Amino acid sequence: MTLSQLLLTLGAAGLASAANSWIVPGAAWMSTSNTKIDAHGGMVIKRGDTFYWLGQAASHNVQPYMYTSTNLLDWTPCKNPQNSIEWMWRPKFAKPNGQFWIYGQVDRNVQALVSSNIADNYQIKGSKVTLPPNGYTYSDTGMFVDDDGTWYLLTSADHNNVQINKINSDGSIGSRANVLAKGAYEAPGIVKVNDVYYLIVSGKTGWRSNPNQMFYTTNLNGGSWSGPYGIAPEAEKTYNSQNTFELTVQGSKKTTYIYMGDSWDSDGGPSSNYVWLPMKVDTGNKRVTLEYHAQWKIDVNTGEVSFPSQKRRYEAEHAEISGRAAVADCAQCLSKRGVHKIASDSEITFRNVTGLGGRQWVQFYYRVDNREAGEAHVFVNDEPALNISSLNHRAGYHDIVPIELDLREGAVNTITFGTSGSEDSGIVLDGIEVVED
Ligand SMILES: *[C@@H]1O[C@H](CO)[C@@H](O)[C@H](O)[C@H]1NC(C)=O
Ligand SMILES: *[C@@H]1O[C@H](CO)[C@@H](O)[C@H](O)[C@H]1NC(C)=O
Repeated sequence: MTLSQLLLTLGAAGLASAANSWIVPGAAWMSTSNTKIDAHGGMVIKRGDTFYWLGQAASHNVQPYMYTSTNLLDWTPCKNPQNSIEWMWRPKFAKPNGQFWIYGQVDRNVQALVSSNIADNYQIKGSKVTLPPNGYTYSDTGMFVDDDGTWYLLTSADHNNVQINKINSDGSIGSRANVLAKGAYEAPGIVKVNDVYYLIVSGKTGWRSNPNQMFYTTNLNGGSWSGPYGIAPEAEKTYNSQNTFELTVQGSKKTTYIYMGDSWDSDGGPSSNYVWLPMKVDTGNKRVTLEYHAQWKIDVNTGEVSFPSQKRRYEAEHAEISGRAAVADCAQCLSKRGVHKIASDSEITFRNVTGLGGRQWVQFYYRVDNREAGEAHVFVNDEPALNISSLNHRAGYHDIVPIELDLREGAVNTITFGTSGSEDSGIVLDGIEVVED
């Protein structure tokens, strides 16, 4: 079953469109129209109280798609596509003058679109151009606006340069302000904190994730770069994501910096998801690190980040166990006990799970030794099996994997966990937590 078929099945099962309560890195992110948000390689800007998310639509020939939100959780599709242009990679916004501009990569050149309305009616502006001063072509597009209102187009990949060009006030691509020539990097984005410019880039490994890196400079116009510095533990491969943009949310109580990454599928297709995480910026040592959370959200007014606090936990060792799976000690498990030896002949069934009625996040606490050895899946009540990885790309990569399930109201739900694999996959189930806020 493909993801879209899966979502159709979920829709047919009466999945109502409800407000999103959390940002869930790696999970399928649904719009207010109950469609999967399709805006990869994108960016977010704020105008007034509204955030606009622009990206490439993987399920529509890489056309520019846009969504709006006032809380960074619930996103409403705009009149998409923004232009009939196809195969425009990593579109980014800019506003170098009175109009709204989109810049993206088409045939390895820069193509601009322009509109007088931020979310509608973009027209192709001029022809595709190469990058001044050397006529270079490129693949990945990034965008940064400085405090003085100057917009910078960030480009990468060809010639192993990450190049930074000013955008002229007439919208044309201006002179080169800086270049990072320190290796094979792509997917650039910049966050500025205390007058230091932190450039985040990914390695070049196609759709497969790699440990993204940070370089910094105090002078965007020609200054030299220090780095590379990792932004997450190397083995995490940026939590299976690739940088696309850094979003600054200036709240009344604090400023929060958000890493926006893409969690690509094997070919950048429609089952690609997103990994958004708050960033810790250590201004003294000049380091940026991603703060991993399985679920989080930001109050866009105060800038504060919060996490689920109301959760109901069910221990795997107290669930109904069938097959050869067995309870044993588990040093990493919260209760120090877990269910081991889970294979395709085994099921772990949690009965009388309390639901609120409707879509609800359920966090699966489990570890996997060999991710290639099978898929973990769940059944809820009498619904068909759902592979956890089809709902959250973090499946098997992190000890806490939230997926959104349709639960009935009351202590009446049955949730069954299983795997298609053998004991070799080394899955240990610790428990599940049903999130109630
Ligand atoms: C779940 O994954 C298994 C193993 O990869 C596959 O055989 C099965 O078709 C998948 N099920 C669904 C519902 O996608
Ligand atoms: C589930 O609830 C039913 C009805 O209250 C009860 O009879 C049963 O013992 C409960 N089962 C478990 C495993 O707690």
